[in-house]
Amino acid sequence: MPKKTTISLIKCDVGSLAGHHVVPKPLFNVAEKNLKRAAEKGLINNFLVFNAGDDLELLMLHEKGEQNIEIHELAWNTFREAADKALELKLYGAGQDLLKNAFVGNVCGMGPGVAEMEIDERASDPVVVFAADKTSAGSFNYPLFRMFADPMNTAGLVIDPNMTGGFKFEVVDTVENKSIILKCPEEMYELLALIGTVGRYAISRIWRAADNLICAASSVSKLSLIAGKYVGKDDPVMITRAQHGLPAVGELLAPFMHSYFVQGWMRGSHWGPLMPVGLKASKCTAFDGPPRIVALGFQVSNGKIACDSDGVPLVADLFDDPAFALARREAMHNACMLRRMGEFEPARLGSEEMEYTTIQQVLAKLGERFKPVKE
Ligand code: F6R
Ligand code: MG
Ligand code: MG
Repeated sequence: MPKKTTISLIKCDVGSLAGHHVVPKPLFNVAEKNLKRAAEKGLINNFLVFNAGDDLELLMLHEKGEQNIEIHELAWNTFREAADKALELKLYGAGQDLLKNAFVGNVCGMGPGVAEMEIDERASDPVVVFAADKTSAGSFNYPLFRMFADPMNTAGLVIDPNMTGGFKFEVVDTVENKSIILKCPEEMYELLALIGTVGRYAISRIWRAADNLICAASSVSKLSLIAGKYVGKDDPVMITRAQHGLPAVGELLAPFMHSYFVQGWMRGSHWGPLMPVGLKASKCTAFDGPPRIVALGFQVSNGKIACDSDGVPLVADLFDDPAFALARREAMHNACMLRRMGEFEPARLGSEEMEYTTIQQVLAKLGERFKPVKE
C-alpha cells in the first residue's frame, strides 16, 4: 500500500514588528532553520514558511499522520524558539499565542492554530492553503459553503457527475465543544442555519459524499475560550484540495472575487471586510487591518510539495493577481465606511462577542455607579 501523505499547516503569533502587523525576517529565519533540520533528519519531507500578517505559518508535508506528537512538538519548539528571538529583539507581543508553558503532546488547545489532512495522493493532487489574519475560524464558513455547496459559485456541482452527489460538512460548536456532520445539498438549509452564526459555529472538515474523500480541513480553535479572556483572534488557516471531481482551483478562489465581512480587525472587536492579498501585502496596517487572507497553491507529489530541480517548493501566490483587485477596492471602500462609524454597532461587534475583550474591564469600573431608574 502506498504511504499516505499528511499536510500540516500550523500557525502561531509569536511576535511582530511595529505592533501586531507583520512577522519580521529573524522569526522566519528561526522557522526555516528548524524545519530544514527536521527535513534533513527525515521527520518531514519538505516545508514552506510564510506569514499571514503577524502569524508565522508552518506548512509541512510528511508521512506521520494527523496530530502526530513529533510534528506538533517540532512546531511548538519552533514557535518557542521564535518567541525567544522575538523577546530578545523586544518585538511586540512576543510569545502572544503560546498559552501554555510546556508541550503536552499536541499543540491543539495550547494556542497555535492547526489544520491537518492525511490523504491518499491522487495521480495529481492540487492543494490550496488559505491563511487569514485579524479574524477568526467562523470567517471561513462563508467561502467554504460557496466552494463546496453553492452551485452558483461552483459550476462543478452542476456540471461534473463526480460532484453532483454533494459534500459532507463537519461543523464544530466552539462554545459547547461538540460537532455535527451535515450533508449537502439535502441538509443545506440546516447547515446554513448553523454556520451563519460565525462567532460560534465553524466548519472544520469537508468530505465528498460519494466516497468520503477528504477535501477540506480548517482550524477551529477559539483562543478566548482556551484562555478565558481576550488573547487575540484565532487567525484561521485551512487546507483545500482541488480539481478532478472536486472544486477547480478557480472555484475555490471565486468566493474571494468580492470582499465580505468578518469578525476581528482592531482589538478583535470589530466587523471588517476581508481583503485577499498576495504575500507581499500580507501585513495588517490600517486600523490593524483590514483583515487579510493569502492563498497558496501547490501540487502534492510523492509526499512533498512538488519542487524545482534545486529542491525549492513550487508555490503559486494565488491572490497576487489583478483578478482580486476589485475585491481589494471593495474591501477598502467598506473598511472606510465602517470606520466612519467608529465605536458604534454594527462597526463594533455585538455585546456577546465583546464579552471576551478588554472592554469588560472598562465597563466593570462603571458598575457601581449605575442607579435604578426611578419609575
Ligand atoms: C487584533 C490585534 C490587534 C491588537 C491591538 C491592540 O487581533 O492583535 O488589533 O488588539 O493592536 O494591541 P495591544 O493591546 O497589545 O496594544
Ligand atoms: Mg499579534
Ligand atoms: Mg494574527
